[in-house]
Amino acid sequence: MDVRVVQGNVTEFTTDALVVNLFQGVKVPGGATGAVDKALNGAIRELIEAGDLDGTLGQVVVLYPRGAIPARRVLVVGLGDAEKFDLEAARRAAAAAARKARELGARDLASIVHGAGVGNLDAKDAVQALVEGTLLALYTFPKYQQKPVEEPKGPRTLTVVEFSAAKIPLLEEGARVGRIIAESVAFTRNLVMEPPNIATPAELARRAKVMAEEVGLRYQVLTDPELKELGMGLLLGVAQGSANRPHFVILEHNAGREDLPTIVLVGKGITFDTGGISLKKPEEMWRMKHDMAGAAAVLGAMRAVALLDLPLHVVGLTPFVENMPDGNAYRPADVLRGVNGKTAEIINTDAEGRLILADALGYAARFNPDAVIDMATLTGSQGIALGDVASALFSNDDALVDRLWTASRRTGEWVWRMPLWPEYKEYIKSDIAEVKNAGGRRGSLPSSAQFLYHFTEGYSWAHLDIASLVWTDQPKDYRPKGPTGYGVRLVVDMLRHWQ
Ligand code: BES
Ligand code: MN
Ligand code: ZN
Repeated sequence: MDVRVVQGNVTEFTTDALVVNLFQGVKVPGGATGAVDKALNGAIRELIEAGDLDGTLGQVVVLYPRGAIPARRVLVVGLGDAEKFDLEAARRAAAAAARKARELGARDLASIVHGAGVGNLDAKDAVQALVEGTLLALYTFPKYQQKPVEEPKGPRTLTVVEFSAAKIPLLEEGARVGRIIAESVAFTRNLVMEPPNIATPAELARRAKVMAEEVGLRYQVLTDPELKELGMGLLLGVAQGSANRPHFVILEHNAGREDLPTIVLVGKGITFDTGGISLKKPEEMWRMKHDMAGAAAVLGAMRAVALLDLPLHVVGLTPFVENMPDGNAYRPADVLRGVNGKTAEIINTDAEGRLILADALGYAARFNPDAVIDMATLTGSQGIALGDVASALFSNDDALVDRLWTASRRTGEWVWRMPLWPEYKEYIKSDIAEVKNAGGRRGSLPSSAQFLYHFTEGYSWAHLDIASLVWTDQPKDYRPKGPTGYGVRLVVDMLRHWQ
């Protein structure tokens, strides 16, 4: 979708659908909405008086100007309570308007910036939210359908209309950032959507390579010979049962710049999780194509980091591995040794994510990182504990938790801190190795984090269990049914404010 910012008066702008807004409880609209109301001879005020428009967040009312202004339709979107208005409300309002415009078959869309005036948002952040909310809401994946089921004639362009000429450069910058981020989320969503017969480890490595060349990231890939040479026995154990051989992708932004802070992002990239020999039940297995959503989020974040050219040395580590049962598969009771020499006893081959992550976390140490953040669809218990509202955050560093918490509030990608207390280490004590890969049902969320913690190397670290956040069965705001791209906006926001 094309995004433009233009200086002008909304009452003079030609478009299929012009979006203006209204805070809850406002009887006489002001600003651009007021100007449109006047040009339409009080049509918006009439809607308010009739009780057909009250400004509830996400409400959209359509008006037909019949030549009074050049716009073909006017969409008035509700912004909700002005006191509670924030960037998330701005994204949700934009999404509601965009979905309505698509439903009506509008070919282009023009909008004012929501909340930069009365809502008190920073204008640049507000336009970023507008662009994100619009683009994310209109996301579709028609690749495997001859006739796309989604409305084919959604808006092709978004024009942000602003009256004040002085604000234009700032708004252009905000729109650019919003577009880069929304397109990076779409990149992530596309990877998660791909079926596991297409999105094999080799194919995902290829997609990472194409993307890296496009945006200017350093790309490396480790396959069997290098992984063996390095001693990544935990990752290779999981990979043992699949004919689709593992591909460990390393992306770097500002490679070699030792003067810059180094942040390593690690993502779980299980391209399909059958459970292995500890086979999953059929009812819950088909969903496991999204078990690479952590890695996909890391790739999307790396894409945005490169395009925004952040002044940081950022490394993305995405091990892509398939977990299959086979005559050669790893088994419960096996003992495996990881890249940093540490050992694990296998109790359950379905606890495979922590094994490939353990080797990636061990490998991360060689970058001498200022922080390491991993994202993983690690446990079913994350969803039991927090549902699809917040990911589970574990960390050994309060300052890093603060950074993530701030980014979480700004992006609406919620995180909630869980304990990384040593008591939980008891849960994964092994009689034969250093740790075991599964500690039973009770406390399985904190014990999974303890397992990862065992394989970190003293650096500042945060683990995000995003299992129930990466896919939605119900369309919600700017998240259509399917992959959400969770984690991209969170991590990119944190990195943009790292300083
Ligand atoms: N990929 C799954 C976790 C998962 C479950 C993600 C549901 C998204 C939705 C992971 O590999 C897994 O199987 N975890 C097991 C671990 C257990 C065997 C210790 C779990 O959580 O049940
Ligand atoms: Mn599993
Ligand atoms: Zn898994």
